Amino acid sequence: MHVFFNGKITEIENAVLSPFDRGFLFGDGVYEVIRYYPKKFFLLEDHLARLRNSLKELEIPAPDLSSIEQILNELIRVNNLTDKLSIAYLQISRGYQFPRRHAFIEEASPTFFIYVENFPAKIDEMKNGVKVGLDEDIRWTRCDIKSTSLIPNILSNKKAVRNNLAEIIWHRNGIITEGTHSNIFFVKDNTIITPPLNNFILAGITRKAILAICKQTGMESCERPVNIDEMKTFDEIFITSTLGEITPVMEINGSIANTGKPGAVTIKLQNEFQKLYADFVAP
Ligand code: PDD
Repeated sequence: MHVFFNGKITEIENAVLSPFDRGFLFGDGVYEVIRYYPKKFFLLEDHLARLRNSLKELEIPAPDLSSIEQILNELIRVNNLTDKLSIAYLQISRGYQFPRRHAFIEEASPTFFIYVENFPAKIDEMKNGVKVGLDEDIRWTRCDIKSTSLIPNILSNKKAVRNNLAEIIWHRNGIITEGTHSNIFFVKDNTIITPPLNNFILAGITRKAILAICKQTGMESCERPVNIDEMKTFDEIFITSTLGEITPVMEINGSIANTGKPGAVTIKLQNEFQKLYADFVAP
């Protein structure tokens, strides 16, 4: 496997990191996950804008991203993924610092790592829907930063897997935030509802694309806080992410969501969303 590591595309064996890298010691870094629909990276500019913002918020110096699209395409090519639905994982940590100190030094040189992976669509989940759980959001109050410090996310996600659930949806004092790796939407009387952007949720790129589709197609949408007590009143629920696109939720905490089948609004949005990348998917 070839990866990008600190300015070069190289065999994974050559990507060697000091244990004094702050990414390893503190989870002091940021990341992005970007979809490659053959033959193009999807919504790349949006992902790069979010990456730049995460770096800025954590005061990590941004590496040169001017030729990132070429690097990503080259990684796809050298790993023989040109015709395969894939993903790129990009991570920038604050870099090496010795000795270990909480306070970061200004002159640290960030570690930049990218790998690509064949990642087929979760067709069954997208078509037939998933079950999700509900849990208290125990994260910090800067969830808008896509940080690699993901302990609450991985613990809640493991809970989901152990309970045969696709995702855990979090709430803070009864107000829905998001999933461990997805945003959430609700449909009531044909209006598409999602929690508003703030420091308690990640500004999902898929979420943004869906709200843009709503505007373009005249579907009614609304960003507002959602209480867990409202859950049973919704006509449809779906979760969104780079990897899962738009995934219908069939059951939430043991209660049936939707009518037991993916709803009409969810299906319409899925079709509209697929049109966004249909142009560049190879015939
Ligand atoms: N996760 N909320 C959280 C907490 C996330 O981690 C993600 C994405 C999303 C959805 O964002 P987007 O639509 O930009 O993928 C929302 C990535 C895919 C991950 O951690 O693997």
